[in-house]
Amino acid sequence: MNDMKPMGLEPLYTPLQLPGGLTLPNRIAMLPMTRVRAEIDGTPSDLMVEFFAQRASAGLLFTDSTPVSAVGRGFLNAPAMFTTEHALGWRKVTDAVHAKGGRIILQINHVGRVNNLQFLQRNIAPVAPSAVRIPRNSRMITINIPRITPYEMPRALETEEIPLVADEFERAARLAVFAGFDGVEVHADSGYLIHQFLSTNVNQRTDRYGGSVQNRARFALEVLDKVIAVNGPEYVSIKLTPGFQVHNIEEDDIPEKYSYFIDQLNQRKGLSFLHLYFGDLASSEVFRSMRQQFNGRVLAEGSLKALQYAQMVASGALDFTGFARAFISNPDLPERLRAGLPISQPDMNTTYSLGAEGYTDYPKWNAADPEGSVVGPKQHDDADALLQALNI
Ligand SMILES: Cc1cc2nc3c(=O)[nH]c(=O)nc-3n(C[C@H](O)[C@H](O)[C@H](O)COP(=O)(O)O)c2cc1C
Repeated sequence: MNDMKPMGLEPLYTPLQLPGGLTLPNRIAMLPMTRVRAEIDGTPSDLMVEFFAQRASAGLLFTDSTPVSAVGRGFLNAPAMFTTEHALGWRKVTDAVHAKGGRIILQINHVGRVNNLQFLQRNIAPVAPSAVRIPRNSRMITINIPRITPYEMPRALETEEIPLVADEFERAARLAVFAGFDGVEVHADSGYLIHQFLSTNVNQRTDRYGGSVQNRARFALEVLDKVIAVNGPEYVSIKLTPGFQVHNIEEDDIPEKYSYFIDQLNQRKGLSFLHLYFGDLASSEVFRSMRQQFNGRVLAEGSLKALQYAQMVASGALDFTGFARAFISNPDLPERLRAGLPISQPDMNTTYSLGAEGYTDYPKWNAADPEGSVVGPKQHDDADALLQALNI
């Protein structure tokens, strides 16, 4: 296979040590993906155990975005982390991944106002920094996901209850330790609750959680500090998506907000890594300045091709990266890339369906059956087509 190996991907196959001693054997993470395959109460299913174990050769695995409370859930069948049952279910996942030599991080989240299911679970409103609803005509960013539109009008959190929501993140981190995770990632982006607090349009508060950048960042930092207190900073990473105006979040003060935020992250020395998503990663000035300002490891991603990521690792622009969609259809993505093998294409119609189909039934490469190892439009074996295939 060596003669088919695409040139230039080697930087992705050098190990990376994170603070605290976690060593990634390669720089290719499986990025967090909501896949709605848990039991209805949020307990991880046996199918999820199989899914993550199949992908254990990734440098690092991320779970689905995982709500820390019942009111923080926004998707039916999303896995959760607020009961012992949830943790015991996750423990099966982490055991299976570790048995295959992998590493796995729990992404913890609260959807805040991005919610329209509450009335199905309990007759209570979703919560948000302020009672600002996502417009009815808001574009659904996912296909086939079992959610019901329109979004509910959220209830503004009382000042006194905000620390209690931060406590829910802390509880999830404690349960993550119990469940054997290698770390937790605080999901502070994508228009969910923490991002809602950081924004100017959903956060219209006049108490200590609203107004100035410092006040809008207070909830995120309280969450972070409580999660750090559970198992040390090296157990904790945080994801930010500056400029990603999803779920009707307005990002109108990017330089001011994120430079303050990174400064605060630097004061919490020894975090595992900072996870950044940029739609224009290769050219973004904001990314470059955040990378420069942050004193630690950076996972950066932005739907680039593998070769571009490899070049960015080689130049020191980022420490490691990852793929989401390519991992849906290629459980052995790092091996396929390394050997220059064809890449399967994911069927986005089954991304959010509720069974094994489109989840655990994508094949690994089998040299005895090359035809059967590739799903979707067939790709040529040459490096160009291979890298093209990744830009799905
Ligand atoms: C099906 C799907 C579900 C996703 N769910 C999450 C999620 O739960 N949390 C998160 O931080 N990002 C989520 N993302 C974003 C991905 O982690 C990633 O940033 C994005 O897909 C770009 O990577 P790619 O071009 O390799 O797919 C999701 C993406 C996809 C395709």
